[in-house]
Amino acid sequence: MTEPGRYCPLSYRTQAADLASLPAVCAETAYIVGGLYGNSAALQAILDMAATEHPPPVLVFNGDFNWFNADSTVFRQINRQVLAHYALLGNVEAELVEPQPGAGCGCAYPAFVDEAVVTRSNQIMARLQTVAAEHPDIIAALAILPRQQRLDIAGLGIGVVHGDPDSLAGWGLGIEAMPPPGVTPAPIAAWFAEADVRVLASSHTCVAYAQRFTVSGQSCAVFNNGAAGMPNFRHDPRVVITRISRTPAPFAPLYACRIGALHCEAIAVEWAQPEWLLEFERLWPEGSPAWQSYRERIVNGPHHRLERANRLLYGQNPHIRS
Ligand SMILES: [Fe+2]
Repeated sequence: MTEPGRYCPLSYRTQAADLASLPAVCAETAYIVGGLYGNSAALQAILDMAATEHPPPVLVFNGDFNWFNADSTVFRQINRQVLAHYALLGNVEAELVEPQPGAGCGCAYPAFVDEAVVTRSNQIMARLQTVAAEHPDIIAALAILPRQQRLDIAGLGIGVVHGDPDSLAGWGLGIEAMPPPGVTPAPIAAWFAEADVRVLASSHTCVAYAQRFTVSGQSCAVFNNGAAGMPNFRHDPRVVITRISRTPAPFAPLYACRIGALHCEAIAVEWAQPEWLLEFERLWPEGSPAWQSYRERIVNGPHHRLERANRLLYGQNPHIRS
């Protein structure tokens, strides 16, 4: 029997083709903000960055905007702020709305993720579910969130998901699943073709990267923003979001490419890390499941490097600006 946290509930299943028929949200610029994980300081920094852009970007919180916010006041505040924008269901929200028997945290962790991490994630989820139960109005709002979002920028389709096009908690758009740059395997080509999009934006796996593909002679890309609520690179506290626009960002991206008329960029956002660390340790004191699993990443970043994340260098018309 599959253990909690390793299991992907049937209700998580989606289809790439569904993205093709969704009504598109048209925008000049979109920020894709995956994996906020209940980080109120990162959220404020992202909102402040958005406020500097004209016209203002559409914000899409593509799931897992809850996680560390296991406190009634903070839970309410984060959800009220996020739900003022476009938002998708992540596995965390799915397990708050309707806990699936045996799903645990709903992460569907693959075998390479350590069992202790999975156990602690299930414990974090159990505590968050207790807090969420105090807020039936927010649970009701989360329950009607879509699982996928289609965007139209400069006439090109963008598919926003939490995991991958086949599953809310899929790992198919994780960096571990990627072929060497320059290669487009048939299943990835099929996702782009069936979804009728040129960009797929994801998060869930918590490891940021971007990679180009060629599908029916056209350039396409996957952008996984890693985490908008935790550092993404070693000794770099900044969080990362994906920005897709007709125009380049008014600030230097970490890495970027052109897909047709689109500027697709990974953007690092500075945030009040030291102040929020105090809040994190108030919510999750030393020895608690979240402290054990995440404090090291929040303080020092994961063992991931920018050079590993930027997989855009190979391919036609690379347009690397930094
Ligand atoms: Fe997730």
